[in-house]
Amino acid sequence: MNEQPVIVKNLVKKYGDYVAVNGISFEIKKGQVFSLLGPNGAGKTTTVEILEGLRKRDAGQVEVLGMDPEVSKEIYNKIGILPQDFTFVQNSTPKEAIEFYCKLFGRKLDPLELLKTVELEDRANVPFSKLSGGQKQKLGLALSLINDPEVLFLDEPTAGLDPKSRRNIWQIIENLKKEDRSILLTSHYLEEAELLADNVAIMNRGKIVDIGSPKELILRHRGKDLLYIKGGKFLGEALENLGIQFKNEDGYFILGLNDSKEAIEILKRIDEMGIPFDDFMIRRENLEDIFLKVTEE
Ligand SMILES: Nc1ncnc2c1ncn2[C@@H]1O[C@H](COP(=O)(O)OP(=O)(O)O)[C@@H](O)[C@H]1O
Ligand SMILES: [Mg+2]
Repeated sequence: MNEQPVIVKNLVKKYGDYVAVNGISFEIKKGQVFSLLGPNGAGKTTTVEILEGLRKRDAGQVEVLGMDPEVSKEIYNKIGILPQDFTFVQNSTPKEAIEFYCKLFGRKLDPLELLKTVELEDRANVPFSKLSGGQKQKLGLALSLINDPEVLFLDEPTAGLDPKSRRNIWQIIENLKKEDRSILLTSHYLEEAELLADNVAIMNRGKIVDIGSPKELILRHRGKDLLYIKGGKFLGEALENLGIQFKNEDGYFILGLNDSKEAIEILKRIDEMGIPFDDFMIRRENLEDIFLKVTEE
Protein backbone atom coordinates (compact mmCIF):
# COMPACT_ATOMS: atom_id res chain seq x y z
CA MET A 1 0.00 0.00 0.00
CA ASN A 2 1.17 3.42 -0.91
CA GLU A 3 0.57 5.82 1.95
CA GLN A 4 1.73 8.80 -0.12
CA PRO A 5 0.26 8.10 -3.55
CA VAL A 6 1.20 11.48 -4.98
CA ILE A 7 4.45 13.34 -4.33
CA VAL A 8 5.44 16.50 -6.17
CA LYS A 9 8.72 18.29 -5.50
CA ASN A 10 9.83 21.57 -7.04
CA LEU A 11 7.89 20.92 -10.22
CA VAL A 12 8.59 23.29 -13.11
CA LYS A 13 6.90 23.43 -16.51
CA LYS A 14 7.59 25.98 -19.21
CA TYR A 15 5.85 26.62 -22.49
CA GLY A 16 8.64 28.31 -24.45
CA ASP A 17 9.79 31.13 -22.19
CA TYR A 18 6.56 31.16 -20.24
CA VAL A 19 6.78 29.46 -16.84
CA ALA A 20 3.35 27.90 -16.29
CA VAL A 21 4.33 25.93 -13.17
CA ASN A 22 7.05 27.50 -11.11
CA GLY A 23 8.56 25.18 -8.52
CA ILE A 24 5.57 23.74 -6.69
CA SER A 25 5.64 20.98 -4.07
CA PHE A 26 2.85 19.03 -2.40
CA GLU A 27 1.86 15.54 -1.34
CA ILE A 28 -1.41 13.66 -1.26
CA LYS A 29 -2.01 11.08 1.44
CA LYS A 30 -3.97 7.92 0.87
CA GLY A 31 -7.72 8.44 1.04
CA GLN A 32 -7.40 12.21 0.94
CA VAL A 33 -9.02 14.78 -1.25
CA PHE A 34 -6.42 17.37 -2.19
CA SER A 35 -7.61 20.48 -3.97
CA LEU A 36 -5.57 22.66 -6.28
CA LEU A 37 -7.46 25.88 -6.09
CA GLY A 38 -6.74 28.76 -8.38
CA PRO A 39 -8.02 31.16 -11.02
CA ASN A 40 -7.83 30.38 -14.74
CA GLY A 41 -4.26 30.19 -15.96
CA ALA A 42 -2.85 29.38 -12.51
CA GLY A 43 -1.25 26.18 -13.84
CA LYS A 44 -3.66 23.60 -12.40
CA THR A 45 -4.32 21.61 -15.58
CA THR A 46 -0.64 21.67 -16.51
CA THR A 47 0.21 20.20 -13.10
CA VAL A 48 -2.50 17.56 -13.32
CA GLU A 49 -1.52 16.54 -16.84
CA ILE A 50 2.10 16.11 -15.76
CA LEU A 51 0.91 13.82 -12.96
CA GLU A 52 -1.16 11.89 -15.49
CA GLY A 53 1.88 11.40 -17.71
CA LEU A 54 0.35 13.46 -20.52
CA ARG A 55 2.94 16.24 -20.38
CA LYS A 56 6.67 16.32 -19.73
CA ARG A 57 8.06 18.40 -16.91
CA ASP A 58 11.10 20.65 -17.21
CA ALA A 59 12.35 20.15 -13.66
CA GLY A 60 11.44 18.62 -10.33
CA GLN A 61 10.34 15.19 -9.13
CA VAL A 62 6.95 13.57 -9.49
CA GLU A 63 5.79 10.26 -8.09
CA VAL A 64 2.36 8.72 -8.55
CA LEU A 65 1.89 5.42 -6.71
CA GLY A 66 5.65 5.13 -6.53
CA MET A 67 6.05 5.55 -10.28
CA ASP A 68 7.28 8.33 -12.51
CA PRO A 69 4.30 9.07 -14.76
CA GLU A 70 6.63 10.26 -17.51
CA VAL A 71 8.17 6.80 -17.71
CA SER A 72 5.75 4.16 -16.37
CA LYS A 73 2.83 3.38 -18.62
CA GLU A 74 1.68 0.88 -15.99
CA ILE A 75 0.28 3.86 -14.19
CA TYR A 76 -2.77 3.92 -16.46
CA ASN A 77 -4.09 0.76 -14.85
CA LYS A 78 -4.18 2.46 -11.48
CA ILE A 79 -5.24 6.05 -12.03
CA GLY A 80 -8.54 7.54 -13.12
CA ILE A 81 -8.77 10.70 -15.17
CA LEU A 82 -11.59 13.16 -15.65
CA PRO A 83 -10.09 15.74 -18.02
CA GLN A 84 -11.13 19.37 -18.01
CA ASP A 85 -13.94 19.88 -20.56
CA PHE A 86 -14.61 16.14 -20.82
CA THR A 87 -16.43 15.14 -23.98
CA PHE A 88 -17.26 11.93 -25.86
CA VAL A 89 -18.50 10.76 -29.27
CA GLN A 90 -21.73 12.73 -29.67
CA ASN A 91 -24.01 9.92 -30.81
CA SER A 92 -22.65 7.25 -28.47
CA THR A 93 -24.61 6.42 -25.34
CA PRO A 94 -23.24 6.12 -21.79
CA LYS A 95 -23.66 2.34 -22.01
CA GLU A 96 -21.62 2.21 -25.22
CA ALA A 97 -19.00 4.54 -23.75
CA ILE A 98 -18.52 2.23 -20.79
CA GLU A 99 -18.35 -0.86 -23.01
CA PHE A 100 -15.72 0.87 -25.12
CA TYR A 101 -13.59 1.82 -22.10
CA CYS A 102 -13.97 -1.67 -20.65
CA LYS A 103 -12.44 -3.11 -23.82
CA LEU A 104 -9.68 -0.51 -23.68
CA PHE A 105 -8.76 -1.43 -20.11
CA GLY A 106 -9.54 -5.14 -20.43
CA ARG A 107 -12.13 -4.99 -17.66
CA LYS A 108 -15.45 -6.77 -17.33
CA LEU A 109 -18.08 -4.56 -15.75
CA ASP A 110 -21.83 -4.26 -15.85
CA PRO A 111 -22.35 -0.80 -17.44
CA LEU A 112 -25.60 -0.31 -15.56
CA GLU A 113 -23.97 -1.05 -12.20
CA LEU A 114 -21.27 1.53 -12.88
CA LEU A 115 -23.82 4.06 -14.11
CA LYS A 116 -25.72 3.52 -10.87
CA THR A 117 -22.76 4.71 -8.81
CA VAL A 118 -23.01 8.07 -10.59
CA GLU A 119 -26.84 8.05 -10.69
CA LEU A 120 -26.96 7.87 -14.45
CA GLU A 121 -28.55 4.45 -14.99
CA ASP A 122 -31.76 5.98 -16.37
CA ARG A 123 -29.75 7.73 -19.13
CA ALA A 124 -27.82 4.62 -20.17
CA ASN A 125 -29.17 4.62 -23.73
CA VAL A 126 -29.37 8.35 -24.45
CA PRO A 127 -26.87 9.80 -26.96
CA PHE A 128 -24.09 11.84 -25.37
CA SER A 129 -25.21 14.97 -27.22
CA LYS A 130 -28.61 14.77 -25.51
CA LEU A 131 -27.22 14.62 -21.95
CA SER A 132 -27.22 17.68 -19.71
CA GLY A 133 -23.91 19.22 -18.63
CA GLY A 134 -24.15 17.51 -15.26
CA GLN A 135 -24.97 14.15 -16.83
CA LYS A 136 -21.99 14.45 -19.18
CA GLN A 137 -19.71 15.07 -16.22
CA LYS A 138 -21.21 12.10 -14.40
CA LEU A 139 -20.44 9.91 -17.39
CA GLY A 140 -16.87 11.27 -17.34
CA LEU A 141 -16.66 10.31 -13.67
CA ALA A 142 -18.00 6.83 -14.40
CA LEU A 143 -15.39 6.36 -17.13
CA SER A 144 -12.63 7.47 -14.77
CA LEU A 145 -13.67 4.62 -12.46
CA ILE A 146 -13.55 1.77 -14.97
CA ASN A 147 -10.14 0.52 -13.86
CA ASP A 148 -11.03 0.80 -10.14
CA PRO A 149 -8.30 3.43 -9.65
CA GLU A 150 -6.42 4.16 -6.43
CA VAL A 151 -5.81 7.74 -7.48
CA LEU A 152 -8.27 9.98 -9.27
CA PHE A 153 -7.49 13.20 -11.10
CA LEU A 154 -10.59 15.34 -11.46
CA ASP A 155 -9.93 18.55 -13.36
CA GLU A 156 -12.70 21.04 -12.60
CA PRO A 157 -15.43 18.41 -12.41
CA THR A 158 -18.18 20.90 -11.65
CA ALA A 159 -17.16 23.83 -13.85
CA GLY A 160 -20.18 25.46 -15.44
CA LEU A 161 -22.74 23.19 -13.79
CA ASP A 162 -25.94 24.35 -12.09
CA PRO A 163 -25.97 24.25 -8.26
CA LYS A 164 -27.98 21.03 -8.08
CA SER A 165 -25.68 19.12 -10.44
CA ARG A 166 -22.66 20.43 -8.55
CA ARG A 167 -24.04 19.12 -5.29
CA ASN A 168 -24.74 15.82 -6.98
CA ILE A 169 -21.14 15.53 -8.12
CA TRP A 170 -19.88 16.53 -4.67
CA GLN A 171 -21.85 13.64 -3.20
CA ILE A 172 -20.28 11.23 -5.68
CA ILE A 173 -16.80 12.53 -4.84
CA GLU A 174 -17.54 12.07 -1.13
CA ASN A 175 -18.55 8.48 -1.81
CA LEU A 176 -15.33 7.87 -3.75
CA LYS A 177 -13.37 9.23 -0.84
CA LYS A 178 -15.11 6.80 1.52
CA GLU A 179 -13.78 4.01 -0.70
CA ASP A 180 -10.31 5.18 0.30
CA ARG A 181 -9.35 6.51 -3.10
CA SER A 182 -7.00 9.48 -3.21
CA ILE A 183 -8.34 12.37 -5.20
CA LEU A 184 -6.71 15.39 -6.76
CA LEU A 185 -9.43 17.90 -7.43
CA THR A 186 -8.83 21.14 -9.23
CA SER A 187 -11.37 23.86 -8.82
CA HIS A 188 -11.97 27.53 -8.79
CA TYR A 189 -15.02 27.08 -6.59
CA LEU A 190 -13.98 27.84 -3.07
CA GLU A 191 -16.97 26.24 -1.41
CA GLU A 192 -16.15 23.02 -3.24
CA ALA A 193 -12.67 22.91 -1.75
CA GLU A 194 -13.94 23.94 1.66
CA LEU A 195 -16.53 21.17 1.60
CA LEU A 196 -14.56 18.29 0.09
CA ALA A 197 -10.85 18.81 0.55
CA ASP A 198 -8.67 17.63 3.40
CA ASN A 199 -5.92 19.84 2.08
CA VAL A 200 -5.93 22.79 -0.24
CA ALA A 201 -3.13 24.42 -2.18
CA ILE A 202 -3.99 27.90 -3.35
CA MET A 203 -2.27 28.32 -6.68
CA ASN A 204 -1.68 31.53 -8.57
CA ARG A 205 0.55 32.21 -11.58
CA GLY A 206 2.35 28.91 -11.38
CA LYS A 207 3.09 29.08 -7.67
CA ILE A 208 1.50 27.69 -4.55
CA VAL A 209 0.83 30.73 -2.43
CA ASP A 210 -0.40 28.78 0.57
CA ILE A 211 -1.18 25.22 1.51
CA GLY A 212 -3.03 23.58 4.39
CA SER A 213 -6.39 22.25 5.50
CA PRO A 214 -9.31 24.61 4.84
CA LYS A 215 -9.46 25.23 8.59
CA GLU A 216 -5.75 26.06 8.83
CA LEU A 217 -5.95 28.45 5.90
CA ILE A 218 -8.96 30.20 7.39
CA LEU A 219 -7.30 30.51 10.81
CA ARG A 220 -4.05 31.70 9.29
CA HIS A 221 -5.56 34.41 7.13
CA ARG A 222 -8.81 35.27 8.77
CA GLY A 223 -9.36 38.87 9.67
CA LYS A 224 -11.99 40.09 12.09
CA ASP A 225 -15.51 38.75 12.12
CA LEU A 226 -17.79 41.27 10.50
CA LEU A 227 -21.06 42.68 11.79
CA TYR A 228 -23.44 43.72 9.03
CA ILE A 229 -26.24 46.11 10.00
CA LYS A 230 -28.82 47.19 7.47
CA GLY A 231 -30.06 50.71 7.97
CA GLY A 232 -30.28 54.24 6.66
CA LYS A 233 -28.52 57.55 7.06
CA PHE A 234 -29.32 57.84 10.78
CA LEU A 235 -27.57 54.59 11.49
CA GLY A 236 -24.44 55.87 9.74
CA GLU A 237 -24.52 59.06 11.77
CA ALA A 238 -25.05 57.16 15.00
CA LEU A 239 -22.07 54.90 14.30
CA GLU A 240 -19.96 57.96 13.54
CA ASN A 241 -21.03 59.56 16.82
CA LEU A 242 -20.09 56.40 18.66
CA GLY A 243 -16.65 56.60 17.04
CA ILE A 244 -17.10 53.22 15.34
CA GLN A 245 -15.35 52.63 12.02
CA PHE A 246 -17.40 51.07 9.27
CA LYS A 247 -17.70 50.42 5.57
CA ASN A 248 -20.93 50.82 3.66
CA GLU A 249 -21.85 48.18 1.05
CA ASP A 250 -25.21 47.32 -0.51
CA GLY A 251 -27.16 49.14 2.20
CA TYR A 252 -25.25 47.38 4.98
CA PHE A 253 -22.94 49.08 7.43
CA ILE A 254 -20.04 46.67 7.97
CA LEU A 255 -18.07 46.75 11.21
CA GLY A 256 -15.03 44.72 12.26
CA LEU A 257 -15.51 42.91 15.58
CA ASN A 258 -12.87 42.11 18.19
CA ASP A 259 -15.16 39.47 19.67
CA SER A 260 -18.77 38.47 19.20
CA LYS A 261 -19.89 40.12 22.45
CA GLU A 262 -18.99 43.44 20.91
CA ALA A 263 -21.81 42.90 18.40
CA ILE A 264 -24.38 42.72 21.19
CA GLU A 265 -23.01 45.90 22.80
CA ILE A 266 -23.07 47.86 19.56
CA LEU A 267 -26.60 46.74 18.67
CA LYS A 268 -27.78 47.54 22.19
CA ARG A 269 -26.38 51.07 22.05
CA ILE A 270 -27.94 51.73 18.66
CA ASP A 271 -31.24 50.41 19.91
CA GLU A 272 -31.05 52.59 23.05
CA MET A 273 -30.43 55.63 20.85
CA GLY A 274 -33.71 54.82 19.10
CA ILE A 275 -32.02 54.34 15.72
CA PRO A 276 -33.98 51.99 13.48
CA PHE A 277 -32.24 49.13 11.68
CA ASP A 278 -33.81 46.51 9.46
CA ASP A 279 -31.54 43.56 9.77
CA PHE A 280 -28.17 42.42 11.02
CA MET A 281 -25.85 39.44 10.67
CA ILE A 282 -22.37 38.37 11.64
CA ARG A 283 -20.19 36.97 8.92
CA ARG A 284 -17.02 35.04 9.48
CA GLU A 285 -14.45 35.10 6.67
CA ASN A 286 -14.55 31.90 4.64
CA LEU A 287 -12.10 30.29 2.25
CA GLU A 288 -13.38 32.54 -0.53
CA ASP A 289 -12.34 35.72 1.33
CA ILE A 290 -8.98 34.15 2.09
CA PHE A 291 -8.51 33.05 -1.51
CA LEU A 292 -9.19 36.57 -2.79
CA LYS A 293 -6.80 38.06 -0.23
CA VAL A 294 -4.03 35.56 -0.84
CA THR A 295 -4.17 35.69 -4.65
CA GLU A 296 -4.20 39.49 -4.64
CA GLU A 297 -1.09 39.79 -2.47
N1 LIG B 1 0.13 23.90 -24.57
C1 LIG B 1 0.35 25.13 -24.12
N2 LIG B 1 1.16 25.99 -24.77
C2 LIG B 1 1.40 27.22 -24.30
N3 LIG B 1 0.87 27.73 -23.16
C3 LIG B 1 0.05 26.93 -22.47
C4 LIG B 1 -0.25 25.60 -22.90
N4 LIG B 1 -1.09 25.03 -21.99
C5 LIG B 1 -1.30 25.98 -21.04
N5 LIG B 1 -0.60 27.11 -21.31
C6 LIG B 1 -0.55 28.33 -20.49
O1 LIG B 1 -0.08 27.99 -19.21
C7 LIG B 1 -0.78 28.68 -18.20
C8 LIG B 1 -1.42 27.68 -17.25
O2 LIG B 1 -2.46 27.00 -17.92
P1 LIG B 1 -3.30 25.85 -17.23
O3 LIG B 1 -2.37 24.85 -16.64
O4 LIG B 1 -4.29 25.37 -18.20
O5 LIG B 1 -4.00 26.65 -16.03
P2 LIG B 1 -5.36 26.37 -15.24
O6 LIG B 1 -5.72 24.94 -15.44
O7 LIG B 1 -5.03 26.71 -13.84
O8 LIG B 1 -6.38 27.30 -15.83
C9 LIG B 1 -1.79 29.55 -18.91
O9 LIG B 1 -1.27 30.85 -19.02
C10 LIG B 1 -1.94 28.91 -20.26
O10 LIG B 1 -2.27 29.85 -21.25
MG1 LIG C 1 -7.46 24.10 -16.10
